[in-house]
Amino acid sequence: VPEVIAGTEETTTGVIRLRAMENDGALRFPIVAVNDADTKHMFDNRYGTGQSTLDGIIRATNVLLAGKKIVIAGYGYCGKGVSSRARGMGAQVYVCEVDPLRALEAVMDGFRVVPMHQAAREGDIFITVTGDRDVLRREHFDVMKDGAILANSGHFDIEIDLKTLGEMASGERRRAVRPFVEEFLVAGPDGDKRILVVAEGRLVNLGAAEGHPAAVMDMSFANQALAAEWVLQQGGTLEPRVYPVPPDIDREISRLKLDSMGVEIDTLTPEQREYLSSWTVGT
Ligand SMILES: NC(=O)c1ccc[n+]([C@@H]2O[C@H](COP(=O)([O-])OP(=O)(O)OC[C@H]3O[C@@H](n4cnc5c(N)ncnc54)[C@H](O)[C@@H]3O)[C@@H](O)[C@H]2O)c1
Repeated sequence: VPEVIAGTEETTTGVIRLRAMENDGALRFPIVAVNDADTKHMFDNRYGTGQSTLDGIIRATNVLLAGKKIVIAGYGYCGKGVSSRARGMGAQVYVCEVDPLRALEAVMDGFRVVPMHQAAREGDIFITVTGDRDVLRREHFDVMKDGAILANSGHFDIEIDLKTLGEMASGERRRAVRPFVEEFLVAGPDGDKRILVVAEGRLVNLGAAEGHPAAVMDMSFANQALAAEWVLQQGGTLEPRVYPVPPDIDREISRLKLDSMGVEIDTLTPEQREYLSSWTVGT
């Protein structure tokens, strides 16, 4: 620790943990919250996780998404990305949330928002992207349909309570049915039913696919590199706190990315710049 100048944190869950350490006085060196940069979470979490999560499920199961009822738990940037992409492939998308604002956003984005105890009865495919634990648990497994597919793309393999699922289907009642797909034979009111878990409940896009395409990770890693440079430029003046990525870095990465994509945008005229920063005209 004494030799560490600073760290840069990539993930949503990592930033949450490091903020908790700061609040507890346990953080020993400065951290830059790379995840919170707009050019990271608005793109990597939304378009990267959105695509690669479905890619992992499709590669592992070869399931047809069109017409399926897909339940997404969590409507952060990851959940928004997965939901919109699932809808684009013809699925009926249900969203489960605990935050009223995010739930309202999902409703107005046109998704069906229901509590998990209801979605559990109806869903064909369940995807957790919350950063939380036990989002899918015994009370949900109990009412799921035969053949329900469960996958997690949020950070950590406890979003689905696999310990309990393992207790509900132990020994020969638990078996690998395809690479990256495990079947749990669970006793239901009408006899046994199968619950399928993809990639051991670990991040499905990394476990069963290739993670995000480079075309979105480039912005995340540009944030990492430029944040590390910024830390050095501060010459040891930073405190053991969680710092945001400076807005100039975000803007520069957006500019570079657009440039690399061959996309041009407009610039403000001097009159527009003055108008947008004044209070004397148009009020
Ligand atoms: N698979 C990947 O490659 C990848 C990429 C980026 C982020 N992540 C991870 O995905 C997770 C989500 O990231 P994010 O940026 O969308 O986070 P976020 O914090 O913006 O969103 C998470 C959402 O889940 C909701 N939530 C929490 N507990 C819930 C519960 N029990 N039921 C329903 N909803 C619940 C929260 O209210 C929140 O709206 C994090 O753990 C993050 O580290 C994974």
